[in-house]
Amino acid sequence: MAKEGADMTEETEYMIDKNVKKEIDNVETSGNAKEMRAVILSGFGGLNKLRVTKKAMPEPQDGEVKIRVKTCGLNFLDLMVRQGTIDNPPKPPLVPGFECSGIVESVGENTKGFEIGDRVMAFVNYDAWAEVVCAPVDFVYKMPDEMTFAEAAAFSLNFVAAYMMLFEVANLREGMSVLVHSAGGGVGQAVAQLCSTVPNVTVFGIASCFKHAAIRDSVAHLFDRNVDYIQEVKKISPEGVDIVLDCLCGENTGKGLSLLKPLGTYILYGASNMVTGETKSFFSFAKSWWQVEKVNPIKLYEENKVIAGFSLLNLLFKQGRCGLVKSVMDKLLCLYEEKKIKPVVDSLWALEEVKEAMQRIHDRGNIGKLILDVEKSPTPLMASDSTETSEAGEEEEEPEGDNDSKERMPFIH
Ligand SMILES: NC(=O)c1ccc[n+]([C@@H]2O[C@H](COP(=O)([O-])OP(=O)(O)OC[C@H]3O[C@@H](n4cnc5c(N)ncnc54)[C@H](OP(=O)(O)O)[C@@H]3O)[C@@H](O)[C@H]2O)c1
Repeated sequence: MAKEGADMTEETEYMIDKNVKKEIDNVETSGNAKEMRAVILSGFGGLNKLRVTKKAMPEPQDGEVKIRVKTCGLNFLDLMVRQGTIDNPPKPPLVPGFECSGIVESVGENTKGFEIGDRVMAFVNYDAWAEVVCAPVDFVYKMPDEMTFAEAAAFSLNFVAAYMMLFEVANLREGMSVLVHSAGGGVGQAVAQLCSTVPNVTVFGIASCFKHAAIRDSVAHLFDRNVDYIQEVKKISPEGVDIVLDCLCGENTGKGLSLLKPLGTYILYGASNMVTGETKSFFSFAKSWWQVEKVNPIKLYEENKVIAGFSLLNLLFKQGRCGLVKSVMDKLLCLYEEKKIKPVVDSLWALEEVKEAMQRIHDRGNIGKLILDVEKSPTPLMASDSTETSEAGEEEEEPEGDNDSKERMPFIH
């Protein structure tokens, strides 16, 4: 029979203590290695530009912690980085990834607030998809005891971005309405959950049809991405909506603006429409750019509309707002501890399965967040594997789409 109450709590606490002790022991024994595994992007392009390789072990500098990584977040943005579709991309070869969770293995000099063995999640400006990451403490946050490493890697980017757009930029309040694209994805689900923390907020979501059953509880009005969503929203709310969150760009910018109520806020925070295939398409890039509504401030003034843009990574790594982000993270962790929000994890993948994981996003298959689990072994491929370790990480040309005939099943969370 299951144990109850105090007995159960004591046992759970004992188990947590024992696990933490085991983790610290592991951390200490793995601390002498000179190399680590990492995903490397050898050049911008298709999935064949990614492989797992060995890299020199990083060591923490002043004010940094060294994290033994457990899990990393895989975001839509990583597809754009791989293709070279982002503004001012760094020069490859590079290790992609902007967020991870794990255990502090050592701390650099003058590093305050963290100890060996702390369970943490972190933002990094690239380099996350590796066994070990060093990050300045300004970008590192302690995880609540009850949060899993997979949840932590699904938390930071999605929830901080969603929270800042809704509450810092658009000033979401009781009774408002919000329209969000890609409602079944990582950010989309974070937006839906955060909206549910404010009374009487109505969420209009757009997502591929097959996701609707899974996300119906979190989104009041769901539309298929192929329907004329302007007409559908106006049938329900003729005046439009208070907040439009647009991660698609292109023709959706004009549509979003046309849906705003007076005093409503439109926020552009992505350009998913620019990704139309495995590699960068100059045609999609130009089309998206060309289709963006050219906004006249006089028209905004006459129509009482607000236009905004939001990029969390720029805020963190270019504009130095880590203090503000830390205060947002504190509020989000309270909401998590009060069980008001919980990251939705779509699936877990080994580092060696990064191509298949990315393909799942290209195929619009994910509901929630994809996670790279550093300790997971790859599921064997049916045909010969093309993701073998390359010592130097140097580029070996492979034909595009070479994995078409091979399939791995993800571990669905
Ligand atoms: N500015 C920021 O600070 C910030 C932070 C995080 C994310 N973002 C942006 O927010 C958006 C969502 O990011 P995410 O990481 O949470 O990803 P995500 O929503 O989980 O991305 C995957 C989903 O996007 C939809 N999608 C739209 N256009 C697509 C395309 N061309 N190819 C494939 N899928 C497409 C698909 O869902 P449906 O088929 O259901 O539409 C797909 O399942 C992205 O544009 C990302 O760049 C911005």
